[in-house]
Amino acid sequence: MAQRIRKAIFPVGGLGTRFLPATKAMPKEMLPVVDKPLIQYAVEEAQAAGIEEFIFVTGRSKTAIEDHFDHSYELETTLRERGKETQIAAVNSWMPRPGQIAYTRQQVPLGLGHAVWCARNLIGDEPFAVLLADDLILAERSCLKQMVEAQSATGGNMVAVMEVPHEHTNRYGIVDVARDDGRLVDVKGVVEKPDPAAAPSNLSIIGRYILQPEVFDRLERIGRGAGGEIQLTDALAELIRGGKPFHGLRFDGKRFDCGDKVGFLEANIAFALARPDMTEAVRKILDGQS
Ligand code: G1P
Repeated sequence: MAQRIRKAIFPVGGLGTRFLPATKAMPKEMLPVVDKPLIQYAVEEAQAAGIEEFIFVTGRSKTAIEDHFDHSYELETTLRERGKETQIAAVNSWMPRPGQIAYTRQQVPLGLGHAVWCARNLIGDEPFAVLLADDLILAERSCLKQMVEAQSATGGNMVAVMEVPHEHTNRYGIVDVARDDGRLVDVKGVVEKPDPAAAPSNLSIIGRYILQPEVFDRLERIGRGAGGEIQLTDALAELIRGGKPFHGLRFDGKRFDCGDKVGFLEANIAFALARPDMTEAVRKILDGQS
């Protein structure tokens, strides 16, 4: 039986340059989709998957994230005085319990692999999840939960995957497929942002990972890769070369690239349409009736 996944890393140190000026004084992970920040969606997805420890790898100017996952006594007191129980639930019912969240800083912006490595002492010697809040997933069942269930049968390492247009392979980590049953993919290699001509497939890694702790050792040893950064994908390639089971899971759900302006807008429309209190009004706007 595979070991239970209790801890998750949320790398939130990025500068969010694609969303300037919105991200000048606010972390990109706090951008709201409808009325909830991206990072809260990721944390709720992890909670639904049974995660108990939430490790944020932050950077400078990210204190809004810490404040978001803390009580706001003035706000809660005022809402209570006004009898606004629903709003009180909206500001605190989803918060992890005291002691379940830890923060560490990435001090130098050396990429995703480096951000994950920064959390090594907080993870210790057990398998863990990584969630990238930019990849927002609309699903009936938490995407990470689907992965946790699949990984409990396969063991080893697992990433979420989906097909992308072939000309977009240079935007993602791309997997080299050994076997594919339509849902679970046996992965024999991964490469970060390959040119379409050199890409081994058009099956892309989406920002959800379940990893074995050996990855920290690989992260320590690999040098800088694509874009001059320490790439998580390069460390995964090392794990595969070392013979560890490595699977991709085609999850049920739709992924939105919220690191991109159009993807972010699309996510807002899809999440608003999925909200019973908004569906009709948004549908009218889209149909040009309002
Ligand atoms: C990162 C990973 C990449 C993965 C992507 C998913 O890239 O390096 O392998 O496919 O997330 O969103 P980034 O989006 O940080 O450039």
